[in-house]
Amino acid sequence: VPPPALYYPPFPKGQQVPLQPKNESWKFPKGFWYGVAGAAYQIEGAVKAEGRGPSIWDVLTHRVVNYVSTNDTGDIADNNYYQYKEDIARIAALGLKTYSFSLSWSRILPFGSGSINEQALLHYDDVIDTCLQYGIIPQVTLFHWDLPLFLQNTYNGWLSDKIISDFTDYARIVFNRWHSKVHYWFTVNEPIVFCGFYPLPANYFKNTTIPPKQQPYVCGHNVLLSHASAYHLAKSINSSLSVSFKTNGGFKIPRTDSQADAEAVQRAWDFNEGWFANPTFINGDYPTHLKDYVSGFLPAFTDKQKAQINGTCDIFAHDAYTSDFIMAPDAGIDACIANTTNPLYPGCYNTTKVYANGYWTIGAAGDPGTPWLNQATDWVPSFLHYMQDTWKPRGGIAITEFGISEPYEELRTNLASILIDPIRSNYYKSYLEAILIAIGEGVNVVGTLAWSIYDNLEWSQGYSVKFGIQYVNLTTQERYFKASAFEYANMFNVYLEK
Ligand code: NOJ
Repeated sequence: VPPPALYYPPFPKGQQVPLQPKNESWKFPKGFWYGVAGAAYQIEGAVKAEGRGPSIWDVLTHRVVNYVSTNDTGDIADNNYYQYKEDIARIAALGLKTYSFSLSWSRILPFGSGSINEQALLHYDDVIDTCLQYGIIPQVTLFHWDLPLFLQNTYNGWLSDKIISDFTDYARIVFNRWHSKVHYWFTVNEPIVFCGFYPLPANYFKNTTIPPKQQPYVCGHNVLLSHASAYHLAKSINSSLSVSFKTNGGFKIPRTDSQADAEAVQRAWDFNEGWFANPTFINGDYPTHLKDYVSGFLPAFTDKQKAQINGTCDIFAHDAYTSDFIMAPDAGIDACIANTTNPLYPGCYNTTKVYANGYWTIGAAGDPGTPWLNQATDWVPSFLHYMQDTWKPRGGIAITEFGISEPYEELRTNLASILIDPIRSNYYKSYLEAILIAIGEGVNVVGTLAWSIYDNLEWSQGYSVKFGIQYVNLTTQERYFKASAFEYANMFNVYLEK
């Protein structure tokens, strides 16, 4: 399919974003952290190097037919395992202040538990030290989906409560080693995704007696207990650490102003963010909607567990990419609950993505990005207000991933056109302007991380979908800044409080 000319400047009629004049009242406060994010399996490569054990993603990419549409693997990826010094230097060269990356659990513990691979610890020692040498704040995620294969094969990974002690043991190793150098820690990345959207292929791994519709909720339950356990452990090692998990979910906009759509929006919050945020920020327990609609198979916390879970996120770390209109189901809520087959959505709300109406930057992955500025002005701040008012995070809100896959970027063949990414550039600019407005209105946003440091393995979509602010030639492993890298970094030159 030839790329439509429409995605190159000048923008299609109606989608033109006028340059906003600098607004003197817009300020990112001092101490705001801004940078980029990546994750081990998506960027490191070197999957057989220096004692790394296999993770489930080695199996998903190599052994499961069509799991990754392009047949790509993370075997080499961006070669970050060997080029991390250059990568960190390039982040510093842009003037960014933060690098958020994940540890490969199966590098550190090749079997998920038990014997420790010292080479992996030495490797991450140097990644962290290199960040510090460049004045970059390292932020570390313990689990970004690449579960040690052994834990999956032995007890079905997150479906078993055995994971709680293994995760805690792993956390003990890394907190002990790096607590004096790393302040910001994220236990798990986007649990709704790895518990729900990336189910392991049926019959591939050991059978489980837990029915498919219950699996996301059992997984989520063990995630919350593992997170809480790791949180308390971290605090016992160093009480000043900031420990949270990363949730995800888009901007939720009611399709109409009807009561039914407003209720659908509430259910959408509860079944996305609230599933994990209510237990940790509000009362140690799931939202009422979850308890009502997942009745019969939502695991319950004991009072002791509720007390253990409540209060265990220091910041609200949220990955927010896209926008959705939310609507009530046509059939009505009762009929919908009775009939739904999707285990993730007994909450019964529908989302609709509205294309080509000038409202959204449209991502290649088929998702709308964030609204253009005039809509973003209303919606992004109201989303952030809702989060602050509902969950009251004591350390503020961080957008720990945001980004967009530029449409048809993968079809561009010449380097110059690859490096000019107007859709992504505008996305970052207008999104950050909307955050500035929210900050001005009193929302405590403490940081942003662009996804991603560079193009990488986009999981089941392989390398075909690109989210990077840098392009990587996967043959030569040379890195190049895209225009969006400068647009993103420059926003902080202009608006950071001096
Ligand atoms: C969220 C995930 O954490 C990350 O791994 C993924 O590549 C991006 N979203 C883009 O889809």
